[in-house]
Amino acid sequence: MNALAKAIGRLGLVLGAIVLACSSAYAAKPVKSKQDIEDGKVCIECHTKESPGIVTEWKKSVHAKEKIDCIDCHKGKPGDKGVVQHEKNKATGKDFHVVTIVTPKTCANCHEKEVKQHQASHHAKGGQILASLDNIMGEVIGGPAAVNVGCRACHGVEVQVDASSGEATYDTWPNTGIGRQNLDGSRGSCAACHGRHRFSSAQARQPENCGKCHIGPDHPQLEIYNESKHGILYNALKDEMNLNSKKWIVGKDYTAAPTCATCHMSATKTQEITHDVGERISWTLRPPISFKLNMVRLSNGDEYDLPPNAALPKVGDVDNSAKGKGATITEVLTWEQRRKKMTNVCYACHSANVINGHYKQFDNVVELYNDKFAKPIAGAMKELQERGYITAAPFDDKIEWIWWEIWHHEGRRARHGASMMGPDYTWWHGIYDVAQNTYFKWIPEMREIVLKKDGNEKAADEILDKYFRPIDGHDWYFNGISKDAIEKVRKGFEQRYGAGALK
Ligand code: HEC
Ligand code: HEC
Ligand code: HEC
Ligand code: HEC
Ligand code: HEC
Ligand code: HEC
Ligand code: HEC
Ligand code: HEC
Repeated sequence: MNALAKAIGRLGLVLGAIVLACSSAYAAKPVKSKQDIEDGKVCIECHTKESPGIVTEWKKSVHAKEKIDCIDCHKGKPGDKGVVQHEKNKATGKDFHVVTIVTPKTCANCHEKEVKQHQASHHAKGGQILASLDNIMGEVIGGPAAVNVGCRACHGVEVQVDASSGEATYDTWPNTGIGRQNLDGSRGSCAACHGRHRFSSAQARQPENCGKCHIGPDHPQLEIYNESKHGILYNALKDEMNLNSKKWIVGKDYTAAPTCATCHMSATKTQEITHDVGERISWTLRPPISFKLNMVRLSNGDEYDLPPNAALPKVGDVDNSAKGKGATITEVLTWEQRRKKMTNVCYACHSANVINGHYKQFDNVVELYNDKFAKPIAGAMKELQERGYITAAPFDDKIEWIWWEIWHHEGRRARHGASMMGPDYTWWHGIYDVAQNTYFKWIPEMREIVLKKDGNEKAADEILDKYFRPIDGHDWYFNGISKDAIEKVRKGFEQRYGAGALK
């Protein structure tokens, strides 16, 4: 590099630093009283001895640089739930009152926008899982102790106060689940993604961060990401990801690979960061049968999803539905608009054909799963119940477990795999398992149930004729695989492995 280029480079750095310094006021910083400043020093002094891990991590945080300390987050109002008297300022003789569980409500004093977006999202509502099949599975068929450490560590607990200590009970805390229901009525735990006391953006941008929860047999997003081209590149080029940059705009501050945050949350050249993780998705891939999602946003800060067959309300209307609670509609985002927000991210690195092709291939898998497997089985399960072959209670018949695993585990894996470029999860852990368990577990079990009750399989044949036979994809099951197709396979095998290879 010649001297002139170096000089220009240095000038660039200086200018960059000035721009950064000017833009660092994105978080509101309330003016602190003299007393709070003095009290904060007392906390730090003693805690440096008593819990050096906490103070050292805090010292390395952006907050410490901004003089945001223990007091700003842990000071509590005497009498509020979870607030206890704790030590004192010896110089003034005044007691401290602290709260241990710092909730989004406190963060909102300085980060209002992030908290608003997060509170409206599915993440903040992740703790409300009582009315679900998963919950019956956990509470009744498993057991409450496992629900506490399992489900609630991801979804969030409803925090309870211990009457004698005035603090959270041991049964409900520690917990940093994504939708924790806090004592002050707020929902969620910002520490779910920004570990205390560093509270860093860099950590939250990494896929492992989301992978605490987005992992495992029923939602293997981390595993899918790791097997995708995107995950492979991220792991190979992590050093080039510029994770510690204050601004992190895809296509500008980094180009090596997208992470979970890139696609679902982070900024692009024309889109801001969002803490509403659902904003950019167009399907729900979670229920037995997938459907597209329109979003309705309300004047009370809340939002909800509507299926595509429901009439879309208008901006400005009063929403008197159960979810609208009389608030005014401020925004309607159709599934197409949500998808556009996601493809806006892809354009930083891809051309239209790759993006459109990806969505076509992804939609096709969701529709294959829906139309060939989920809809006929769901229809048949309903009929089995109506005709008295199985009870209305979930999980007391073997066939209900088989169906549950087909949609809740294998069917989700197929759909998730296709959405995020994971071929193994789309096929071997996905549609392959769905197909095998449909033909060789669900159908045989259905026949057995009918035979046991009726002494013959007539009703089972009727059900298959009604729900499965009209679908082209099941033709092979009823009429066998065609001679031509078998002959083609035989020839292929013999070419590769020699005469008589296909047994
Ligand atoms: C009293 C004000 C205040 C409170 C309360 C507060 N913050 Fe901050 N926070 C700030 C300021 C100021 C910055 C620095 C902004 C900047 O660099 O432009 C910041 C920066 C951050 C960052 C960015 C860090 C990075 O790596 O760049 C995160 C994440 C964050 N805060 C999370 C939280 C969370 C979570 C809470 C609640 C548990 C919280 N903050 C409470 C004022 C506050
Ligand atoms: C003289 C020492 C001392 C001072 C001053 C002090 N602390 Fe502590 N603090 C401790 C010790 C020791 C513990 C651990 C207590 C335990 O393990 O039961 C603790 C625990 C805590 C906890 C966790 C409580 C829990 O239930 O888990 C919080 C939060 C806390 N301190 C915040 C503060 C804040 C904020 C200040 C300043 C206003 C402060 N502390 C001042 C010594 C101190
Ligand atoms: C930006 C806000 C913020 C600041 C600043 C902050 N804390 Fe915390 N602190 C939290 C959050 C969030 C938690 C986690 C509580 C939860 O949600 O479960 C926490 C938890 C704690 C705990 C209990 C957790 C444990 O592992 O024992 C202690 C003790 C504590 N903080 C002490 C301090 C001290 C001392 C300081 C000052 C050096 C400090 N905190 C500064 C937000 C903050
Ligand atoms: C490892 C973390 C983790 C554990 C443990 C876990 N979940 Fe989940 N759960 C998730 C994630 C992540 C999702 C969202 C999956 C997606 O979007 O694909 C989810 C989705 C759900 C849903 C669907 C929500 C919706 O809006 O459709 C329910 C209900 C649910 N879980 C309940 C439970 C129950 C009950 C348990 C325990 C028996 C449990 N979960 C255990 C992480 C977890
Ligand atoms: C699902 C994970 C997740 C949760 C939960 C979460 N954040 Fe974040 N947050 C992120 C990611 C990822 C970034 C980095 C975005 C970027 O710059 O690419 C971030 C960045 C931030 C920033 C810096 C914003 C900026 O403009 O640079 C603040 C402040 C922040 N978060 C506050 C919060 C608060 C407050 C909460 C709790 C209400 C919270 N976060 C909960 C993932 C999360
Ligand atoms: C290249 C961009 C990209 C990356 C990287 C990415 N995703 Fe996705 N994700 C998508 C797309 C596209 C969809 C489907 C969107 C739709 O429905 O239109 C999706 C869907 C999802 C869903 C919704 C699933 C459901 O059940 O409805 C979750 C949850 C999710 N991703 C989490 C993650 C996590 C966690 C990671 C990282 C381990 C990640 N994503 C990485 C693009 C990405
Ligand atoms: C502590 C656990 C946890 C962490 C960490 C977490 N999530 Fe989630 N996530 C969940 C749960 C639980 C749900 C399902 C909530 C529900 O629908 O009730 C969910 C749902 C989602 C959805 C679907 C939203 C919708 O509107 O349907 C997306 C997308 C998502 N997460 C992305 C992410 C990304 C990206 C990260 C990391 C930056 C992340 N999550 C970190 C637990 C977590
Ligand atoms: C930060 C850049 C970046 C972003 C953002 C990004 N990708 Fe990629 N993507 C890549 C790179 C690099 C590859 C690897 C190309 C290769 O070497 O085969 C890739 C691979 C792919 C592939 C496989 C293509 C192939 O030839 O095998 C698909 C499909 C894909 N991306 C779709 C998407 C979609 C859809 C989005 C948005 C939801 C997206 N990508 C966002 C960089 C990105």
